[in-house]
Amino acid sequence: MKETRRKFFKSGIIAGTGLLIGNSTSASCIITPAQTEGPFYPIDDQLDTDTDLVFKKGASKRARGKVVYIKGRILDQDCKPVPNALVEIWQACESGKYNHPNDPNPASLDPNFQYWGKTITNKKGQYLFRTIIPGAYPATSTWKRPPHIHFKISIRGYEELVTQMYFKGESLNQNDKILQSLSDLEKRNVIVNFKKIKKRLTGKFDITINKIF
Ligand SMILES: [Fe+2]
Repeated sequence: MKETRRKFFKSGIIAGTGLLIGNSTSASCIITPAQTEGPFYPIDDQLDTDTDLVFKKGASKRARGKVVYIKGRILDQDCKPVPNALVEIWQACESGKYNHPNDPNPASLDPNFQYWGKTITNKKGQYLFRTIIPGAYPATSTWKRPPHIHFKISIRGYEELVTQMYFKGESLNQNDKILQSLSDLEKRNVIVNFKKIKKRLTGKFDITINKIF
């Protein structure tokens, strides 16, 4: 287990490409659409808050679920990387349950899952998390939320951004009221295509935040 963790933390982050508009001398990036924070932003502290949500400090085994790697860059509207940005993620476990006292979902919690994590972007504005694909969960009796991961990006001098990342190909995406409230272009910016890269199911999620002038 320790070896796996070491390999993960030593692994590099491949730079992604932001959504560019215009020519090379006047590139601009579209601000990633904000999505509701939802009611389950973590309120309880955790012993382990690192970027590997699959292994929780002190747990004897890894979390249940399909492991995915999410990597990307935080950019500003001029497509310039933003170093030192705080990137927080939180999500449900494989059963679709949040570790939050207000979650009414009767599904069981995974005691080995680290329900949230945080990191600071490096000099190139890059971040990397390892987690599992969260379960879908009922928002109402007629609406099931598709698997998604909540993101919050904050750094002084920029507008804070709260959004959600979705998995391409999930059938529940079609009927999700929150995702479908976005334009087609905005949807493309938050739905991520996961592919096997060196045996790792990896998704690239570049996020553009608004620099305040
Ligand atoms: Fe959620």
